[in-house]
Amino acid sequence: MLSPKLKSLLETQYNKELASGYFYMQIAEFYDRINLPGFAHFFKKQAEEENDHAMKFYQYIVDRGDRIIFQPISVLLGTEFKDFQGITDPMVAFVEHERKVTDAIEMLSTEAKIENDNRTYAFLHEFNIEQVEEVMMAEEMLSKTSLIKDDGAGILIYDLELAKAE
Ligand SMILES: [Fe+2]
Ligand SMILES: [Fe+2]
Repeated sequence: MLSPKLKSLLETQYNKELASGYFYMQIAEFYDRINLPGFAHFFKKQAEEENDHAMKFYQYIVDRGDRIIFQPISVLLGTEFKDFQGITDPMVAFVEHERKVTDAIEMLSTEAKIENDNRTYAFLHEFNIEQVEEVMMAEEMLSKTSLIKDDGAGILIYDLELAKAE
């Protein structure tokens, strides 16, 4: 069994990963609404990835012999649940969100280290590495979208590129 503190942090992270998926579907819906299916596709894929992360946290907690309390997703999303203005707005939210997730994973790892819970520390390793890539990718997408925001041809080219996201 996990320590109560670590268990509660992991459980929150499980719920937050689900909330991230939900949040990215909200971004996908915005891009679908303004007819940028490539941008929408990218965020649908991103949502799937967050659901995969959630499953990993779920399985880890269950495998350690603990139970999970499901929280309302609206509570976890908090102020992030909003409508977007323009094509760069969701990218700003994307960067902010991934930075927050990075902080949460770092905090979890620090707690695992303090408690000498090596299994949890090792479990979190891949998420720490993953966050470097996620934040870098979000920042890159924000700067590219900011560059082309008033350029229709640029937007359509980038939309085609994002449609290929796997
Ligand atoms: Fe995630
Ligand atoms: Fe993520």
